[in-house]
Amino acid sequence: MGGGGGGGGRGVWFGVAAGCAAAACVIAVALVSRRVKSHRRWQRAAELVAEFEEGCATPVGRLKQVVDAMVVEMHAGLASDGGSKLKMLLTYVDSLPHGSEKGIYYALDLGGTNFRVLQVQLGGKGSNILKQKVERQPIPQELMTTTCEKMFGFIASKLKQFVEKEEESREGTSETRALGFTFSFPVKQNSVSSGVLIKWTKGFSIEDAFNKDIVACLQEALTKEGLNMQVAVLVNDTVGTLALGHYHDQDTVAAVIIGTGTNACYVERTDAIIKYQGLLTNYGGMVINMEWGNFWTSHLPRTLYDIELDEDSPNRTDQGFEKMISGMYLGEIARRVLFKIAVESEVFGDVGSKLSQPFALSTPLMATIHEDDSADLREVKRIFEQILQIPDIPLKTRRLVVKVCDIVSRRAARLVAAGIVGILKKIGRDGSGPSTSGRPRGEPRRTVVAVEGGLYERYSLFRDYVDEAIVEILGDVAQNIFLKTTVDGSGTGAALLAAAHLSNRKSYI
Ligand code: BGC
Repeated sequence: MGGGGGGGGRGVWFGVAAGCAAAACVIAVALVSRRVKSHRRWQRAAELVAEFEEGCATPVGRLKQVVDAMVVEMHAGLASDGGSKLKMLLTYVDSLPHGSEKGIYYALDLGGTNFRVLQVQLGGKGSNILKQKVERQPIPQELMTTTCEKMFGFIASKLKQFVEKEEESREGTSETRALGFTFSFPVKQNSVSSGVLIKWTKGFSIEDAFNKDIVACLQEALTKEGLNMQVAVLVNDTVGTLALGHYHDQDTVAAVIIGTGTNACYVERTDAIIKYQGLLTNYGGMVINMEWGNFWTSHLPRTLYDIELDEDSPNRTDQGFEKMISGMYLGEIARRVLFKIAVESEVFGDVGSKLSQPFALSTPLMATIHEDDSADLREVKRIFEQILQIPDIPLKTRRLVVKVCDIVSRRAARLVAAGIVGILKKIGRDGSGPSTSGRPRGEPRRTVVAVEGGLYERYSLFRDYVDEAIVEILGDVAQNIFLKTTVDGSGTGAALLAAAHLSNRKSYI
């Protein structure tokens, strides 16, 4: 019995051992297969990132091609209306504020994510801006697609509340107040204080605004509110920024906005504005609103993600440059890449997450991810958990996410740099061509570009990439180029321009 029992025990033992071995085998096979799968997932994810990086490449040679294309398009846009995707719009601003302006001026600034109302008090020669009040508020989403009457009614009522608050401590004035109106969309101007909307950008779409004089719409709304106020100037945000930049530093010749949208303006010689010869006064220069958001050249590094983003946008085939550069789109480009990675490699686990929702990753969040310098990338983890509802992504995956954001941001910043150098080249400040200023060639000339917008102001890696690329393109000449950030310049500049326009002591540019 004992022996039989021992034999039976051995049999059981062998059976258990065989079972264990088989189970171990199964586990080992499962582990190996999991590892193989995980390796393949990584390979696919890495491949997608590498492909994206290659598609976004902006070596200095390509940037120089973009610079040259920008110059060619600027010429074409100045030669005739419709001659280029760059509209090169006339602003009728032929004098910039210089510091002798005096009095109290108001401004309304509409066109980005926020809407601003401002009051600026100018002290005259030598005293600069004495006082400035700014009130900001986000534009309610529904107003972006409402009617003209409602939109202008809303901003007029906000302006009225602001004026009443600011003036309650002072005696009511019977004098007409002067207002600078910053309206940051492409407008065909007929004078410094009138203009017709060409198209909406940045998600705005108010159908009945077309073919109407924007200033007349606002003026009507102000009158309805019983506000004794005259719209003295209508300006683009770039023009306001240039005005404030020039007010503080007279070497400022151009301005760039890199915020929700992107655009640039600069001072052009009147005789170079071929399309308006004869209509213009003979003063030396005029500010041109380039509307560079619509710039296009085949040299731009365009990927499948850009093409799909454009196809899904309400303004297809428009604003191609803007869609690669501005705050409205950068987060969305990164989201599209990450979503593709999620679908094709499963490195994020369940793809039913918020990552599939357009615009779920805003550009400020993308910047936070990009700038997370903690060792364990905990901000990336937090954003994925709290905003995109994807918990527990491993460190390796977090690094991959940061890499994608870096590619998106670097390409955008380098294209901005190429755009800026394009302007400098057009006006002979890039050190390459003959001087147009009458100065002997070779003499370096200090040149300032005013820059405004959240991407440049609050995203230091983006700023570093812009600065780095300018040096790469221009070499030593970059030592004479200064990018200066202005804050609320778009609105403050409009108030300054209202002052300069109404002042009898204009000094033409
Ligand atoms: C508009 C420009 C504006 C820029 C920056 C673009 O979408 O077309 O007029 O200057 O955004 O706000």
